[in-house]
Amino acid sequence: MAKPRTQFVCQNCGTVHARWAGKCDGCGEWNTIVEDDPTGGIGGGPATSARKGRPVALASLAGEIEEAPRIPVRVGELDRVTGGGFVRGSAVLVGGDPGIGKSTLLMQAAAALARQGHRVIYVSGEEAVAQVRLRAQRLGAADSGVLLAAETNVEDILATLAEGKRPDFVIIDSIQTLWSDLAGSAPGTVTQVRTGVHAMVRFAKQTGAAMVLVGHVTKDGQIAGPRVVEHMVDAVLYFEGDRGHHYRILRTVKNRFGATDEIGVFEMSDRGLREVANPSELFLGERNAKSPGAAVFAGIEGTRPVLVEVQALVAPSSLGTPRRAVIGWDSSRLAMILAVLEAHCGVRLGSHDVYLNVAGGYRIAEPAADLAVAAALVSSLAGLALPADCVYFGEVSLSGAIRPVAQTALRLKEAEKLGFANAVLPSGSADLPSKTAAGLSQMETLADLVARIAG
Ligand code: TYD
Ligand code: MG
Repeated sequence: MAKPRTQFVCQNCGTVHARWAGKCDGCGEWNTIVEDDPTGGIGGGPATSARKGRPVALASLAGEIEEAPRIPVRVGELDRVTGGGFVRGSAVLVGGDPGIGKSTLLMQAAAALARQGHRVIYVSGEEAVAQVRLRAQRLGAADSGVLLAAETNVEDILATLAEGKRPDFVIIDSIQTLWSDLAGSAPGTVTQVRTGVHAMVRFAKQTGAAMVLVGHVTKDGQIAGPRVVEHMVDAVLYFEGDRGHHYRILRTVKNRFGATDEIGVFEMSDRGLREVANPSELFLGERNAKSPGAAVFAGIEGTRPVLVEVQALVAPSSLGTPRRAVIGWDSSRLAMILAVLEAHCGVRLGSHDVYLNVAGGYRIAEPAADLAVAAALVSSLAGLALPADCVYFGEVSLSGAIRPVAQTALRLKEAEKLGFANAVLPSGSADLPSKTAAGLSQMETLADLVARIAG
């Protein structure tokens, strides 16, 4: 008899290894590899289905399907991120750190949909029905008609969902609590999570329900993270934010039915999440424009402009290797800006500690923030505050040149709307507004900017 084979699976990214190792080759994480049962789960056993499919001519589908049938939640920030509502027959993964507000967000979405007459089932594997009901009461959602179930077994959940009228919208909270009789390994392992998610995705496809799967992001690798099922679902949203701050950002990472660079902004209150229609006002809310080291960056998130303050503190270091601490931005990008400042602008920061912070716990992904970061650094080093009514954007290249970025007009329009009369931007920017305001300073090199700030 063949010896039963075991395999070793990274609980972070799902990479399969032949033997145990401390570090995963797939994602580089440490201590995330555990022994897993290869039987059961997807692709585990031999295929038993012998049914034949029938190919269909692509052209014959034309006209039959116009748009994916959507269920709009009518919560603006949520619909913006999904691209206009949840799509029937699709599965969406909502990932995020534990305690960030995923259950809160989805209970509010469930209530909004139930109030529109949809049949909504909320399956909680983490909390008892009484706990979920208590939360719903706090959110003012208790009388909305959402159906609750507290179950973790995949087969039980499917039986519950098949009872009565077909659901339009199903929430599974969370994928890490799912376990199936068919998979041999312990709940929370990659095999169990994949088996459970696979069953839920199939249910959505077969019945036309919109399925939302909640997944906790795990740092220690003890249970499988949402990344191991990202490829199985139609859309992936991440809910992020800083515990120390009240607002939360819902970000699209993957979307088969819409754009992937949208964000939705919410604020956590004692009565749940509230939409934030104008994020710039929120991020600039507690601004102290008079102190050196603060520059306002005019950024873009998807189709929406976002103004946010970049703060830098540069101070002489007492350490042999000066500190570089970055919150809300890419630390290798900061290293690059520091190198360019040193090599091309004569700004020496080699014996200074450098702290960089994006205000309000916001995270910037755009390289267009280079110019604002450089401005904040130089301003802090020189001890001179930047003009309070000026925004900065532009990408800095290794040669010290400032490169144009996309969506100039949109950034300037938002800045003007919020009372910023001036902007420092790359020269040669396309789509400048036709009546160019007097306050535009187009710069060619980072050295020009340094000369302007430090005089
Ligand atoms: P929760 O939705 O349970 O997080 P997750 O499902 O992502 O683990 O939210 C947990 C946090 O949100 C908790 O610290 C309490 C806070 N919260 C509020 O501030 N206001 C509220 O109305 C609710 C329901 C939760
Ligand atoms: Mg939860």
